[in-house]
Amino acid sequence: MITLGIETSCDETAVAVVEDGFTVRSNLIASQVHLHERFGGVVPEVAARAHVEAINPLMEEALATAGVGFGDLDTVAVTVGPGLVGALLVGMAAAKAVALATGAALVGVNHLEGHVWANFLVHGPPEPPYVALIVSGGHTMLVHMTEAHHHEVLGQTLDDAAGEAFDKVARLLGLGFPGGPALDRMAREGDPAAIRFPRAMEGSGDLDFSLSGLKTAVLRHVKQERAAGRDLHLPDLAASFQEAIVDVQVQKTLEAADRTGVGTVLLGGGVVANSRLRERLQAEGEAAGLTVWFPPLDLCTDNAAMIACLGAARAARGDRSMFDIGADPQLRLTP
Ligand code: KG4
Ligand code: ZN
Repeated sequence: MITLGIETSCDETAVAVVEDGFTVRSNLIASQVHLHERFGGVVPEVAARAHVEAINPLMEEALATAGVGFGDLDTVAVTVGPGLVGALLVGMAAAKAVALATGAALVGVNHLEGHVWANFLVHGPPEPPYVALIVSGGHTMLVHMTEAHHHEVLGQTLDDAAGEAFDKVARLLGLGFPGGPALDRMAREGDPAAIRFPRAMEGSGDLDFSLSGLKTAVLRHVKQERAAGRDLHLPDLAASFQEAIVDVQVQKTLEAADRTGVGTVLLGGGVVANSRLRERLQAEGEAAGLTVWFPPLDLCTDNAAMIACLGAARAARGDRSMFDIGADPQLRLTP
Protein backbone atom coordinates (compact mmCIF):
# COMPACT_ATOMS: atom_id res chain seq x y z
CA MET A 1 0.00 0.00 0.00
CA ILE A 2 1.58 3.25 -1.16
CA THR A 3 0.42 6.63 0.18
CA LEU A 4 1.37 10.01 -1.21
CA GLY A 5 1.28 12.71 1.49
CA ILE A 6 0.91 16.41 0.63
CA GLU A 7 1.31 19.24 3.17
CA THR A 8 1.04 22.95 2.30
CA SER A 9 -0.68 24.48 5.34
CA CYS A 10 1.89 27.17 6.04
CA ASP A 11 5.33 27.96 4.62
CA GLU A 12 6.74 24.54 3.75
CA THR A 13 5.77 22.69 0.59
CA ALA A 14 6.12 19.05 1.63
CA VAL A 15 5.55 15.77 -0.22
CA ALA A 16 6.23 12.25 1.06
CA VAL A 17 5.74 8.65 -0.03
CA VAL A 18 4.98 6.18 2.76
CA GLU A 19 4.60 2.43 2.33
CA ASP A 20 2.17 0.37 4.43
CA GLY A 21 1.42 3.36 6.63
CA PHE A 22 4.69 3.57 8.52
CA THR A 23 7.69 3.07 6.21
CA VAL A 24 8.96 6.37 4.81
CA ARG A 25 10.18 5.93 1.23
CA SER A 26 10.70 9.65 0.63
CA ASN A 27 10.03 12.81 2.64
CA LEU A 28 10.86 16.07 0.86
CA ILE A 29 10.45 19.70 1.85
CA ALA A 30 10.81 22.83 -0.26
CA SER A 31 11.26 25.46 2.43
CA GLN A 32 10.13 29.04 1.87
CA VAL A 33 11.88 30.44 4.94
CA HIS A 34 14.17 32.61 2.80
CA LEU A 35 11.13 34.28 1.17
CA HIS A 36 9.48 35.22 4.49
CA GLU A 37 12.63 36.08 6.44
CA ARG A 38 12.74 39.72 5.44
CA PHE A 39 9.11 40.22 6.51
CA GLY A 40 9.80 38.64 9.93
CA GLY A 41 6.84 36.25 9.51
CA VAL A 42 4.89 34.22 6.97
CA VAL A 43 3.13 36.32 4.30
CA PRO A 44 0.07 34.30 3.16
CA GLU A 45 0.08 35.41 -0.51
CA VAL A 46 3.81 34.82 -0.85
CA ALA A 47 3.36 31.35 0.69
CA ALA A 48 0.54 30.36 -1.68
CA ARG A 49 2.48 31.48 -4.74
CA ALA A 50 5.60 29.62 -3.66
CA HIS A 51 3.56 26.44 -3.09
CA VAL A 52 2.19 26.72 -6.66
CA GLU A 53 5.72 26.90 -8.03
CA ALA A 54 7.09 24.08 -5.89
CA ILE A 55 4.34 21.45 -5.70
CA ASN A 56 4.54 19.70 -9.10
CA PRO A 57 8.33 19.27 -9.27
CA LEU A 58 8.38 18.21 -5.62
CA MET A 59 5.74 15.51 -6.25
CA GLU A 60 7.78 14.17 -9.18
CA GLU A 61 10.92 14.16 -7.05
CA ALA A 62 9.23 12.47 -4.08
CA LEU A 63 7.91 9.68 -6.32
CA ALA A 64 11.27 9.25 -8.08
CA THR A 65 13.15 9.14 -4.76
CA ALA A 66 10.71 6.50 -3.50
CA GLY A 67 11.06 4.52 -6.73
CA VAL A 68 7.34 4.55 -7.51
CA GLY A 69 5.14 6.10 -10.19
CA PHE A 70 1.73 7.80 -10.07
CA GLY A 71 0.12 4.49 -11.08
CA ASP A 72 1.41 2.80 -7.90
CA LEU A 73 -0.48 5.11 -5.53
CA ASP A 74 -3.29 3.62 -3.43
CA THR A 75 -4.03 6.73 -1.36
CA VAL A 76 -3.41 10.46 -1.60
CA ALA A 77 -3.46 12.12 1.84
CA VAL A 78 -3.57 15.90 2.08
CA THR A 79 -3.81 18.50 4.84
CA VAL A 80 -7.19 20.30 4.69
CA GLY A 81 -6.60 22.49 7.80
CA PRO A 82 -5.93 24.23 10.03
CA GLY A 83 -3.67 26.62 8.15
CA LEU A 84 -3.58 29.46 5.64
CA VAL A 85 -6.44 29.09 3.20
CA GLY A 86 -4.53 30.03 0.04
CA ALA A 87 -1.66 27.73 0.99
CA LEU A 88 -3.95 24.80 1.85
CA LEU A 89 -5.81 25.12 -1.47
CA VAL A 90 -2.63 24.54 -3.48
CA GLY A 91 -1.92 21.20 -1.83
CA MET A 92 -5.56 20.18 -2.04
CA ALA A 93 -5.80 20.98 -5.76
CA ALA A 94 -2.69 18.88 -6.39
CA ALA A 95 -4.03 16.01 -4.29
CA LYS A 96 -7.40 16.04 -6.03
CA ALA A 97 -5.77 16.09 -9.47
CA VAL A 98 -3.57 13.08 -8.64
CA ALA A 99 -6.43 11.13 -7.05
CA LEU A 100 -8.75 11.87 -9.97
CA ALA A 101 -6.17 10.92 -12.59
CA THR A 102 -4.97 7.73 -10.88
CA GLY A 103 -8.09 6.47 -9.09
CA ALA A 104 -6.23 6.52 -5.75
CA ALA A 105 -8.35 7.20 -2.64
CA LEU A 106 -8.42 10.87 -1.58
CA VAL A 107 -8.18 11.41 2.19
CA GLY A 108 -8.16 14.91 3.68
CA VAL A 109 -6.60 15.08 7.14
CA ASN A 110 -6.12 17.45 10.07
CA HIS A 111 -2.62 18.94 10.32
CA LEU A 112 -2.62 18.84 14.14
CA GLU A 113 -3.56 15.16 14.20
CA GLY A 114 -0.71 14.69 11.71
CA HIS A 115 1.76 16.17 14.23
CA VAL A 116 0.66 13.51 16.73
CA TRP A 117 0.97 10.76 14.12
CA ALA A 118 4.60 11.70 13.44
CA ASN A 119 5.29 9.68 16.60
CA PHE A 120 3.88 6.51 15.04
CA LEU A 121 6.38 6.70 12.17
CA VAL A 122 8.97 5.92 14.83
CA HIS A 123 7.02 3.77 17.30
CA GLY A 124 4.61 1.94 14.97
CA PRO A 125 0.81 1.80 15.07
CA PRO A 126 -0.96 3.60 17.92
CA GLU A 127 -2.04 1.87 21.10
CA PRO A 128 -4.14 4.48 22.95
CA PRO A 129 -4.90 5.91 25.45
CA TYR A 130 -2.53 8.84 25.29
CA VAL A 131 -2.22 12.44 26.23
CA ALA A 132 -0.72 14.52 23.42
CA LEU A 133 0.88 17.94 23.80
CA ILE A 134 0.67 19.74 20.45
CA VAL A 135 2.86 22.84 20.30
CA SER A 136 3.45 24.63 17.02
CA GLY A 137 3.52 28.07 15.44
CA GLY A 138 -0.27 28.30 15.53
CA HIS A 139 -1.37 25.97 18.34
CA THR A 140 -0.66 24.98 21.92
CA MET A 141 -2.99 22.31 23.28
CA LEU A 142 -3.32 19.20 25.35
CA VAL A 143 -5.45 16.40 23.92
CA HIS A 144 -6.68 13.13 25.39
CA MET A 145 -6.89 10.26 22.88
CA THR A 146 -8.84 7.26 24.16
CA GLU A 147 -8.78 5.66 20.73
CA ALA A 148 -7.16 6.51 17.39
CA HIS A 149 -8.78 9.55 15.71
CA HIS A 150 -10.80 10.39 18.81
CA HIS A 151 -9.71 13.58 20.55
CA GLU A 152 -10.85 15.34 23.68
CA VAL A 153 -9.23 18.76 23.96
CA LEU A 154 -8.21 19.12 27.62
CA GLY A 155 -6.86 22.64 27.35
CA GLN A 156 -5.33 25.14 24.96
CA THR A 157 -3.81 28.57 24.71
CA LEU A 158 -6.13 31.47 25.33
CA ASP A 159 -3.96 33.82 23.25
CA ASP A 160 -0.56 33.23 21.56
CA ALA A 161 0.78 29.80 20.59
CA ALA A 162 4.17 28.75 22.00
CA GLY A 163 5.88 28.89 18.58
CA GLU A 164 4.39 32.34 18.00
CA ALA A 165 5.89 33.49 21.35
CA PHE A 166 9.31 32.14 20.32
CA ASP A 167 9.04 33.86 16.92
CA LYS A 168 7.89 37.22 18.35
CA VAL A 169 10.56 37.33 21.08
CA ALA A 170 13.26 36.32 18.59
CA ARG A 171 12.15 39.14 16.32
CA LEU A 172 12.28 41.59 19.24
CA LEU A 173 15.84 40.47 19.96
CA GLY A 174 16.86 40.63 16.29
CA LEU A 175 17.46 36.88 16.00
CA GLY A 176 15.66 36.39 12.67
CA PHE A 177 12.82 34.12 11.52
CA PRO A 178 11.76 31.51 12.48
CA GLY A 179 12.82 32.36 16.00
CA GLY A 180 12.46 29.05 17.80
CA PRO A 181 15.66 27.38 16.59
CA ALA A 182 17.74 30.58 17.09
CA LEU A 183 16.47 31.12 20.65
CA ASP A 184 16.99 27.44 21.46
CA ARG A 185 20.64 27.66 20.32
CA MET A 186 21.27 30.91 22.18
CA ALA A 187 19.62 29.62 25.37
CA ARG A 188 22.18 26.80 25.61
CA GLU A 189 24.83 29.38 26.59
CA GLY A 190 22.59 31.15 29.12
CA ASP A 191 21.35 30.80 32.69
CA PRO A 192 17.63 29.86 32.81
CA ALA A 193 17.35 31.35 36.32
CA ALA A 194 18.93 34.71 35.41
CA ILE A 195 15.63 36.59 34.92
CA ARG A 196 12.34 35.54 36.49
CA PHE A 197 9.66 35.91 33.81
CA PRO A 198 5.97 35.22 34.61
CA ARG A 199 4.63 31.68 34.30
CA ALA A 200 1.04 32.57 33.34
CA MET A 201 -1.55 30.02 34.41
CA GLU A 202 0.97 27.71 36.04
CA GLY A 203 -0.94 25.83 38.71
CA SER A 204 -4.18 27.55 37.58
CA GLY A 205 -6.12 24.35 38.15
CA ASP A 206 -7.08 23.99 34.49
CA LEU A 207 -5.10 22.83 31.47
CA ASP A 208 -5.17 26.07 29.49
CA PHE A 209 -2.19 28.25 28.61
CA SER A 210 -1.59 31.98 28.15
CA LEU A 211 1.58 33.28 26.51
CA SER A 212 0.95 36.87 25.46
CA GLY A 213 1.92 38.28 28.90
CA LEU A 214 5.32 36.60 28.70
CA LYS A 215 6.09 38.34 25.43
CA THR A 216 5.13 41.68 27.03
CA ALA A 217 7.32 40.92 30.06
CA VAL A 218 10.31 40.32 27.77
CA LEU A 219 9.60 43.61 25.98
CA ARG A 220 9.40 45.44 29.33
CA HIS A 221 12.70 43.90 30.47
CA VAL A 222 14.42 44.93 27.22
CA LYS A 223 13.15 48.51 27.56
CA GLN A 224 14.19 48.72 31.23
CA GLU A 225 17.70 47.47 30.54
CA ARG A 226 18.13 49.85 27.62
CA ALA A 227 16.78 52.79 29.63
CA ALA A 228 19.29 51.97 32.39
CA GLY A 229 22.08 51.92 29.79
CA ARG A 230 22.85 48.23 30.38
CA ASP A 231 23.73 45.79 27.58
CA LEU A 232 21.34 42.90 27.14
CA HIS A 233 22.77 39.52 27.99
CA LEU A 234 21.04 37.66 25.14
CA PRO A 235 21.90 34.09 26.21
CA ASP A 236 20.50 34.69 29.73
CA LEU A 237 17.45 36.39 28.29
CA ALA A 238 16.84 33.54 25.82
CA ALA A 239 17.34 30.85 28.48
CA SER A 240 15.07 32.60 31.00
CA PHE A 241 12.31 33.16 28.43
CA GLN A 242 12.52 29.57 27.22
CA GLU A 243 12.43 28.25 30.79
CA ALA A 244 9.24 30.18 31.53
CA ILE A 245 7.53 28.52 28.55
CA VAL A 246 8.92 25.06 29.26
CA ASP A 247 8.01 25.17 32.98
CA VAL A 248 4.32 25.64 32.22
CA GLN A 249 4.28 23.11 29.37
CA VAL A 250 5.87 20.45 31.59
CA GLN A 251 3.63 21.17 34.57
CA LYS A 252 0.40 21.07 32.52
CA THR A 253 1.39 17.99 30.51
CA LEU A 254 2.18 15.99 33.65
CA GLU A 255 -1.05 17.18 35.20
CA ALA A 256 -3.02 16.12 32.11
CA ALA A 257 -1.46 12.65 32.29
CA ASP A 258 -2.26 12.45 35.98
CA ARG A 259 -5.89 13.53 35.55
CA THR A 260 -6.58 11.13 32.70
CA GLY A 261 -4.52 8.27 34.14
CA VAL A 262 -2.65 7.56 30.86
CA GLY A 263 0.80 5.99 30.90
CA THR A 264 2.10 7.54 27.66
CA VAL A 265 2.53 11.12 26.58
CA LEU A 266 3.05 12.04 22.91
CA LEU A 267 4.64 15.32 21.85
CA GLY A 268 4.05 16.87 18.45
CA GLY A 269 4.60 20.11 16.52
CA GLY A 270 7.49 22.39 15.64
CA VAL A 271 8.18 23.55 19.20
CA VAL A 272 8.85 19.93 20.19
CA ALA A 273 12.13 20.43 18.32
CA ASN A 274 13.10 22.60 21.32
CA SER A 275 15.97 20.88 23.12
CA ARG A 276 15.02 22.07 26.62
CA LEU A 277 11.37 21.00 26.25
CA ARG A 278 12.43 17.53 25.03
CA GLU A 279 15.02 17.13 27.76
CA ARG A 280 12.77 18.23 30.62
CA LEU A 281 9.62 16.43 29.53
CA GLN A 282 11.56 13.22 29.04
CA ALA A 283 13.29 13.44 32.45
CA GLU A 284 10.30 14.66 34.44
CA GLY A 285 7.84 12.41 32.58
CA GLU A 286 9.94 9.36 33.29
CA ALA A 287 10.34 10.39 36.92
CA ALA A 288 6.53 10.43 37.09
CA GLY A 289 6.40 6.90 35.65
CA LEU A 290 5.32 7.99 32.16
CA THR A 291 6.57 6.93 28.75
CA VAL A 292 7.31 10.08 26.73
CA TRP A 293 7.48 9.90 22.94
CA PHE A 294 8.61 12.64 20.60
CA PRO A 295 9.44 12.52 16.90
CA PRO A 296 12.98 13.07 15.55
CA LEU A 297 13.66 16.74 14.78
CA ASP A 298 12.76 16.60 11.07
CA LEU A 299 9.37 15.05 11.89
CA CYS A 300 8.54 17.64 14.59
CA THR A 301 8.33 20.56 12.18
CA ASP A 302 5.92 20.51 9.24
CA ASN A 303 6.39 17.52 6.93
CA ALA A 304 4.28 15.31 4.68
CA ALA A 305 5.38 11.91 6.05
CA MET A 306 3.17 12.48 9.10
CA ILE A 307 0.26 13.40 6.80
CA ALA A 308 0.77 10.22 4.72
CA CYS A 309 1.01 8.07 7.87
CA LEU A 310 -2.25 9.47 9.24
CA GLY A 311 -3.97 9.37 5.83
CA ALA A 312 -3.03 5.71 5.32
CA ALA A 313 -4.59 4.81 8.69
CA ARG A 314 -7.75 6.71 7.88
CA ALA A 315 -7.95 5.12 4.42
CA ALA A 316 -7.53 1.65 5.99
CA ARG A 317 -10.64 2.20 8.09
CA GLY A 318 -12.61 3.32 5.03
CA ASP A 319 -12.41 7.11 5.32
CA ARG A 320 -12.64 8.88 1.97
CA SER A 321 -12.97 12.54 1.01
CA MET A 322 -15.21 13.71 -1.80
CA PHE A 323 -13.72 15.83 -4.58
CA ASP A 324 -15.71 18.84 -3.45
CA ILE A 325 -13.98 18.93 -0.05
CA GLY A 326 -12.80 22.46 0.77
CA ALA A 327 -9.90 23.84 2.81
CA ASP A 328 -10.79 24.60 6.42
CA PRO A 329 -8.41 27.18 7.95
CA GLN A 330 -9.97 26.68 11.42
CA LEU A 331 -10.38 22.90 11.28
CA ARG A 332 -10.77 21.38 14.74
CA LEU A 333 -9.70 18.00 16.02
CA THR A 334 -12.60 15.56 15.86
CA PRO A 335 -14.01 14.29 19.15
O1 KG4 B 1 4.67 22.73 13.43
P1 KG4 B 1 5.42 23.82 12.77
O2 KG4 B 1 6.56 23.46 11.86
O3 KG4 B 1 4.45 24.72 11.95
C1 KG4 B 1 3.15 24.99 12.39
O4 KG4 B 1 2.28 24.09 12.26
O5 KG4 B 1 2.98 26.09 12.97
O6 KG4 B 1 5.93 24.80 13.93
C2 KG4 B 1 6.67 25.94 13.62
C3 KG4 B 1 7.04 26.63 14.93
C4 KG4 B 1 7.71 27.99 14.70
O7 KG4 B 1 7.05 28.94 15.53
C5 KG4 B 1 9.14 27.76 15.16
O8 KG4 B 1 9.76 28.91 15.71
C6 KG4 B 1 8.96 26.68 16.20
O9 KG4 B 1 7.99 25.83 15.67
N1 KG4 B 1 10.21 25.93 16.45
C7 KG4 B 1 10.86 25.95 17.64
C8 KG4 B 1 12.05 25.20 17.46
N2 KG4 B 1 12.08 24.75 16.17
C9 KG4 B 1 10.93 25.20 15.57
N3 KG4 B 1 10.54 26.53 18.81
C10 KG4 B 1 11.41 26.38 19.83
N4 KG4 B 1 12.58 25.70 19.74
C11 KG4 B 1 12.93 25.09 18.59
N5 KG4 B 1 14.08 24.41 18.50
ZN1 ZN C 1 2.64 22.24 12.01
